[in-house]
Amino acid sequence: MTEQTLANLMQETRTYAPPREFATQANGTADQYAAATADREAFWAEQARTYVAWSKDFTQVLDWSDAPFATWFGDGELNACYNAVDRHVEAGHGDRVAIHFVGEPEGDTRDITYADLHAEVQRAANALVDLGIGKGDTVAIYLPMIPEAAVAMLACARLGAPHSVVFGGFSAEALHSRVQDVQAKVVITCDGGYRRGKPSALKPAVDTALEHGDTSVAKVLVVRRTGQDTAWTDGRDLWWHEALEAAAPEHTAIPVEAEHPLFILYTSGTTGKPKGIFHATGGYLVQNAYTNAVVHDVHPETDVYWCTADIGWVTGHSYIVYGPMTLGATQVMYEGTPDTPHQGRFWEIVQDKKVTILYTAPTAIRTFMKWGEDIPAKFDLSSLRLLGSVGEPINPEAWMWYRRVIGGDRCPIVDTWWQTETGAIMISPLPGVSETKPGSAMQPIPGVTADVVDDAGQSVPNGSGGYLVVRDPWPAMLRGVWGDPQRYQDTYWSRFPGMYFAGDGAKKDEDGDIWVLGRVDDVMNVSGHRLSTTEIESALVSHPKVAEAAVVGATDATTGQAVCAFVILRSEAVAEADEPGEGAELVAELRAHVAKEIGPIAKPRQIMVVQELPKTRSGKIMRRLLRDVAENREVGDVTTLADSSVMDLIKTGLGGDGS
Ligand code: WTA
Repeated sequence: MTEQTLANLMQETRTYAPPREFATQANGTADQYAAATADREAFWAEQARTYVAWSKDFTQVLDWSDAPFATWFGDGELNACYNAVDRHVEAGHGDRVAIHFVGEPEGDTRDITYADLHAEVQRAANALVDLGIGKGDTVAIYLPMIPEAAVAMLACARLGAPHSVVFGGFSAEALHSRVQDVQAKVVITCDGGYRRGKPSALKPAVDTALEHGDTSVAKVLVVRRTGQDTAWTDGRDLWWHEALEAAAPEHTAIPVEAEHPLFILYTSGTTGKPKGIFHATGGYLVQNAYTNAVVHDVHPETDVYWCTADIGWVTGHSYIVYGPMTLGATQVMYEGTPDTPHQGRFWEIVQDKKVTILYTAPTAIRTFMKWGEDIPAKFDLSSLRLLGSVGEPINPEAWMWYRRVIGGDRCPIVDTWWQTETGAIMISPLPGVSETKPGSAMQPIPGVTADVVDDAGQSVPNGSGGYLVVRDPWPAMLRGVWGDPQRYQDTYWSRFPGMYFAGDGAKKDEDGDIWVLGRVDDVMNVSGHRLSTTEIESALVSHPKVAEAAVVGATDATTGQAVCAFVILRSEAVAEADEPGEGAELVAELRAHVAKEIGPIAKPRQIMVVQELPKTRSGKIMRRLLRDVAENREVGDVTTLADSSVMDLIKTGLGGDGS
């Protein structure tokens, strides 16, 4: 966080009160802050009983005696899929549309009611049972944005089988390590999805991930989406539609203990190895349903809600599957990209489906700004009544544009701060209560206690910056790092004893409202996706031509941050790279290598071949200096550099720039 950012924020004085009509109908009310402060546990117990159906009620709300390992609603039992599907059908809402699916090819739409969903999840659960899946077994899901992704997740939840969804944009390598880490018995995938107008195969990555035979995967269930030719391993691969057809139509959801793991989701941290964050069923479901009600203000009878995230990220887990479905909401699910077949696709969907609540990411908003406001102007966006933002800090310009151009100056905006680890929204305005400020996530929601502290863990006064922490346990908090309890303690609970350290920098303004400024650790945020500098560095170094690599996140007007890599070549490769034209080829080769190791999202925007990297005397790469170079700034203080001439070498010899 630079002095300049802080100074700019100081000047932000605009505030927007909720429109009166919005406030009178809002689910989130001012009283909730007072109620939660008066008795936090009683407050959460009330939310738990309001939003979730328990097959066995709980008697204890929180057990924090084994901190930082929490137990929420410990002796309660429930089933997440029953909550998200069955009970809406039982309540007579079977005809309500659960998912308006919009495929990427034009005209490819499908409406799925809660009754349809109920029929599907029962068959899918039975199909998984037929493959030997039971409570406690793990299932990997590697699918694009199609309804079967939600069905697959819910079918696992129905059995108490934790799912591990791997984002469809990750490579075979990344899939392999995740499948291995959770010891998945079954992988659910599909032949392919549609991406920018073309079918794009997915199953080959699964075949590659499993080809070494060193995983516990026995069966691969394959959804037929595109109908493209698909290589088949007899005995291992089964078509999803055939397995469902062969399965019994009725299945009773299995109640699990509140603390039973619902899912594992990998996210980047400061080391090269992604962390398997895992969440418990009860607390996760409670906080997701509650926040989807009070922050997104979902009214299931009347709203059409649309969260544009991919199901492969936590936002898709929480605010496509478990939050809205637990409330019984109607939502849009879109398979494709915002510019296929034209740059007005999102706005066309809002108009056609009469979307009332839109939840998207700042990087998308900045892209729409770049494309121009005449594009959304061609569509009727008057159905919208609330806008949300998530994934990275939203700059005031983008916030104002979102409000004016998309929200017609009438929709409140909720800027929601949370993480894979927090499981659900933590800091956000309540849209019917808060006077929002462009760019601020405002205050912790009722029931959550966040703060900004200095190096010593002391709460900073208003007007100052520091580290974002959470003071008390919350229901949707991660229960750990899969298979690595020590890493859980070290990463989140050791920097400031007794507090959860989020890894973000933040500032409290003069009113005490929170402005999240971004990561303070070696994690980058590219288009709202978390990437670790170390992970990309190890991917680069695993290429035979690379001796050493340093990766930094440089500011980027559209994606927030962009991956910039500095590499030192092995001597054999140096001569080759000096040949005319070879440098660019090498850079292309390295970018492709990163895509193969991690996935296309991790491809560096720029790769600079250098002779030296700036290091401290203890050998630590000084990424701060490299960031200056990547952002074309005057290079900062180099006094701790072991050899200060290194920076001159880098600045003068920027060969092989791949941008
Ligand atoms: C960033 C995504 C500012 C932050 C839900 C956090 C945000 C990381 C916001 C988590 C926001 C998320 N304002 N920054 N409203 N929301 N972030 O795990 O740096 O993919 O630590 O979860 O995204 O990313 P993750």
